[in-house]
Amino acid sequence: MTKIVFEDADGNRQAAEVDAGTSVMQAAMDSSVAGILADCGGGCSCATCHCFVTRGVFPDPDEIESQMLECVLEPEVSSRLSCQLIVREDMDGLVIKLPRNQI
Ligand code: FES
Repeated sequence: MTKIVFEDADGNRQAAEVDAGTSVMQAAMDSSVAGILADCGGGCSCATCHCFVTRGVFPDPDEIESQMLECVLEPEVSSRLSCQLIVREDMDGLVIKLPRNQI
């Protein structure tokens, strides 16, 4: 299991224990994390799973994710779609930040 931490825009944190191979979005759903809505269920077609992650932790977004990221409110250089981020065992302690506008 890998521990990841969700941090909302006010700095409140919620930890989740996640099996490697699980998406960050699914981990948020399983842990009832507010701020990840995931309306399309992980199909990379809604952008309601927007989050912020330090660049370089995950492989760069592909073309479809990049296009969807153009739809999010208040994007940042660290913007990602959590349904496209797959947790690995070496990510223990990873912090996923959540946008204020999805709370
Ligand atoms: S869950 Fe819809 S784009 Fe990620």
